[in-house]
Amino acid sequence: MRRCGLALALLSLSGVFLTAHSLAVMSVDLGSEWMKIAVVSPGMPMEICLNRDSQRKTPVVIAFRDGERQYGDMALNTQTKFPDKAFANFLYLLGKPLDHPIVQEFQKKFPYYKLSSDENSGGVKFTHPEGMEFSVEELVGMILKNAQAAAQATAGQRIKDAVITVPAFFNQAERRALARAASIAGINLLQLMNDNTAVALNYGAFRRKEFNATATNILFYDMGTGSTTATVISYQTAKTRDRGFVETAPVLSVKGVGYDRDLGGLEFKHRLGEHLAKKFDELKKASKKVHQNNRALFKLYKEAERVKKILSANTEINAQVENVMEDIDLKVTVTRQEFEDMCADLFARVTQPIEDALASSEIGLDQINQVIVVGGNTRIPKIQQILQEYLKGKGLSKSINADEAAAMGAAYQAAYLSKGFKVLPFVAKDANLYPIQVEFSRDGIKNIQRVIFNRNNEFPKHKTILATRMEKDFTVYVNYGDLSFLSKKEQSLMGKSSNISSILVKGVAESLKKYPTEEAEVRGVRIHMAMDASGIFHIDQVETLFEKEQVEEAEASTLDKIKAQFGKMFGGGEGEAELPVGDKKEPEQGDKPSEGTGSETQSETVKNETAGEAEPDAPGTEEKPKEEKSKDDKPKEEKPKEAAAEAREKKNVTKKVELKQKLDKEVNVLDMPDVDQELIEASAKKLQDLDDKDSAQLALDKARNALESFLHETKDKLSTEEYQNASTEKERTKIVEALNKEQEWLEYESDAADTETLKGKLASIAVITKDVIDRVNEHRDRPQALDSLNNLLKISKEYLTNLESVPEDESVFTKVELQTLGTLITDTETWVVEQTAIQMKTPLNEAPKLTMKMIFEKIQGLDRETKYLMNKARYAQPKKKVKKEKEPEKSGDDETIKVNEEAIIEEEKPLEETQPTPAQEDTASAVPPDPKTEVPVVEPQDPKQEEVHSEL
Ligand SMILES: *[C@@H]1O[C@H](CO)[C@@H](O)[C@H](O)[C@H]1NC(C)=O
Ligand SMILES: *[C@@H]1O[C@H](CO)[C@@H](O)[C@H](O)[C@H]1NC(C)=O
Ligand SMILES: *[C@@H]1O[C@H](CO)[C@@H](O)[C@H](O)[C@H]1NC(C)=O
Ligand SMILES: *[C@@H]1O[C@H](CO)[C@@H](O)[C@H](O)[C@H]1NC(C)=O
Ligand SMILES: *[C@@H]1O[C@H](CO)[C@@H](O)[C@H](O)[C@H]1NC(C)=O
Repeated sequence: MRRCGLALALLSLSGVFLTAHSLAVMSVDLGSEWMKIAVVSPGMPMEICLNRDSQRKTPVVIAFRDGERQYGDMALNTQTKFPDKAFANFLYLLGKPLDHPIVQEFQKKFPYYKLSSDENSGGVKFTHPEGMEFSVEELVGMILKNAQAAAQATAGQRIKDAVITVPAFFNQAERRALARAASIAGINLLQLMNDNTAVALNYGAFRRKEFNATATNILFYDMGTGSTTATVISYQTAKTRDRGFVETAPVLSVKGVGYDRDLGGLEFKHRLGEHLAKKFDELKKASKKVHQNNRALFKLYKEAERVKKILSANTEINAQVENVMEDIDLKVTVTRQEFEDMCADLFARVTQPIEDALASSEIGLDQINQVIVVGGNTRIPKIQQILQEYLKGKGLSKSINADEAAAMGAAYQAAYLSKGFKVLPFVAKDANLYPIQVEFSRDGIKNIQRVIFNRNNEFPKHKTILATRMEKDFTVYVNYGDLSFLSKKEQSLMGKSSNISSILVKGVAESLKKYPTEEAEVRGVRIHMAMDASGIFHIDQVETLFEKEQVEEAEASTLDKIKAQFGKMFGGGEGEAELPVGDKKEPEQGDKPSEGTGSETQSETVKNETAGEAEPDAPGTEEKPKEEKSKDDKPKEEKPKEAAAEAREKKNVTKKVELKQKLDKEVNVLDMPDVDQELIEASAKKLQDLDDKDSAQLALDKARNALESFLHETKDKLSTEEYQNASTEKERTKIVEALNKEQEWLEYESDAADTETLKGKLASIAVITKDVIDRVNEHRDRPQALDSLNNLLKISKEYLTNLESVPEDESVFTKVELQTLGTLITDTETWVVEQTAIQMKTPLNEAPKLTMKMIFEKIQGLDRETKYLMNKARYAQPKKKVKKEKEPEKSGDDETIKVNEEAIIEEEKPLEETQPTPAQEDTASAVPPDPKTEVPVVEPQDPKQEEVHSEL
């Protein structure tokens, strides 16, 4: 109960409210060393899940030992003894080929893993010493399934929907690989959410009242195990009009991100580990170098982790490892100074991500209101010192539960994206990190290149590009754009080639024949593209676009007239707008509008018509936060209802109507091979088989335990007075003999026994003991059952007395009805007295004469009769309205909040349109809502039953 209350308070603080029939959703904050799992469920909203070891964070480790799969503490245990049998730190291997520098570095750090190339995904796979092979995606899939199991255990229901965090710097191939891992795990991925954005959302959601129209800029600095990220986030409130009235909602925008992919705890630990290894080798006591012994090396690294932690608080420590190898111990003093010296080059990199984040956000350090550090490694004193110096006295704040912030933020997002939770709007605008451009050539000569998503462009977003004068099939290359803002090192980590994919557009020539020139004008080939909420780029529909003029006598509104006038600027029937190519900061060269098709003088084939590139609205404007604001001087599409209503007149209008001819496309993924659905399914099956094997093992263990404890307990019980009273000497001897026999079997012969055999044994021994156990239970439960019956008799009698006192002409009951109840009461009373007496005379070790079954039948009979009369009374006089049990409040449309996928990517449909609405306008979300209206908890009880009691 207390737990529930606490959860409720948390829930309302963060702005997530439950509605009826909520399905639980989960989040996984997936790190390279640890993961945290959170659920939002009707019973326990927004909670960090405990894993099987009852911990709030779960190591990302999977071990296989003697064919048995292990997670959590067990896996860590195996890792200590057999590092090569436990897979760990593999997250960053996602979406990379074997020769990728990060993979090579991984292999160097963990020489005991056998890595090879996975021909299916082009990625990496591990071979276990026992022979099993797993791709990185499969391993991540197992981890996610394990997370799902923990979430389900917490929520007490099946959970499929999840938001999974992803490092902000993950590129296209890496994101797709992670999404694939989720799909291998059978998880319905609501979104991959950048972990820094999740942290920022969590921070904001708990402080929504602190933001106003003036932007608050916060710098988050997160040093994790594997990487470091700095993020500039701007919080402010902005007005939205999505529900027909203006309301204010908080918005967070990612303004800039800087990162270092391999600056993190692992690297610091590695330096210390190597230091210890060197010291050990210097002892020259062992016959081999420590690097030739995996277990020895692992022991040193484990000690390195401890040394690192202790050096955060102490200036020196004695590192001590017993029997590193060959019974040789290591004992060596490590000072903080030594540690800082050996990591000097790492410390030199600490502030670079901040510099990059600030530079890319174009927000100066002086405009940063607060700095928040996240991640355990920021506890290293030297790092704190460096940060403090760099940030010039801006205090470092750790005001959030940094460790769990990303999981909670992602859970908030999951609740928002799923059905059944009412979530106060908190708009999270993420920003694209790596520019993405398209390239294609016309007639094999003219090369056209346009940036589609520039750096810091907001997503999710849908964009289109129009390629004019294409007459034949052509190939569009999707590439990363200019990455020179990245360090050389980071650039090299993006992969060998900047190609992401190529799309062969087919059937262009045929499609052009569809409409004769005099009928419609060809405008070009339009390519629909999107960056989805997970930051994954897609090419959607490709079509040839025609336009024809249509003269209609119509009741023209002002809007229609504007539309007619600027016909080309607006999409046709669907009211969609074409988006410009290029970016506000770096306009594409030669990017002029090219009106009219077939014009030979035009060299541009990509038009940037209509509304301008995403420019976040100024704070406090009346614009919807997600809506694009016009940048160039052309009018942008608006849908103001007031405008449509005014100035109607009959007039012939010329409308431009769009006609579309869908084209075939062939997508060829170039950065990493796309994995066939079949192979994904094969991996899913592989994981399912492992799960089945685990559950079979679990069932076997359970069956064995059940038999074992039954034998044990029954033996114990037989020696108690209660059981001795209820059995004969002969019975007991027989039972003990049987128990002993089975116990012996269990101990010496049952090793190969399967679950069925074990269950069978339990069943047959249960037959032998049944009579005695039944007798004990009968004797034990009888007094209480008799009490219930007597109690019911008493109530019925009182009720009957009441009814009998009603004058006959007012009573709704017939005399016979009252008599029937009266007789039943008397008969039952007599029955109780007689049967109790008989039972008293029966020895305890004989079959009981008065059984529970008999008593229950009497209770039921009496209950039925009494209820019959009560119901009759109720229906006969509908009178004063009986207070109805309050039903869970169903708040109509507010209840289900579902962001449909289209809305996510379609620029034309700003997110606010489907944004969940606050419970009340500008809800004081820090104040817990009235639980009765906001959180329907229990299921409504059978009203009949309820009313019966109220009448009693
Ligand atoms: C916004 O909040 C800040 C601090 O919370 C305050 O200094 C500022 O005056 C507020 N601005 C407005 C417009 O309310
Ligand atoms: C990569 O893209 C360029 C055009 O941007 C193209 O010329 C080249 O062939 C592509 N590389 C591959 C391997 O497809
Ligand atoms: C197209 O891009 C060019 C070059 O950046 C710019 O000058 C022009 O205003 C843009 N046109 C439209 C319609 O956006
Ligand atoms: C509108 O066009 C129709 C023929 O398309 C013509 O008969 C009619 O007179 C026109 N009306 C106006 C108001 O121009
Ligand atoms: C066992 O039986 C004796 C004699 O009938 C009785 O006094 C005693 O309370 C019984 N013990 C239990 C545990 O039922």
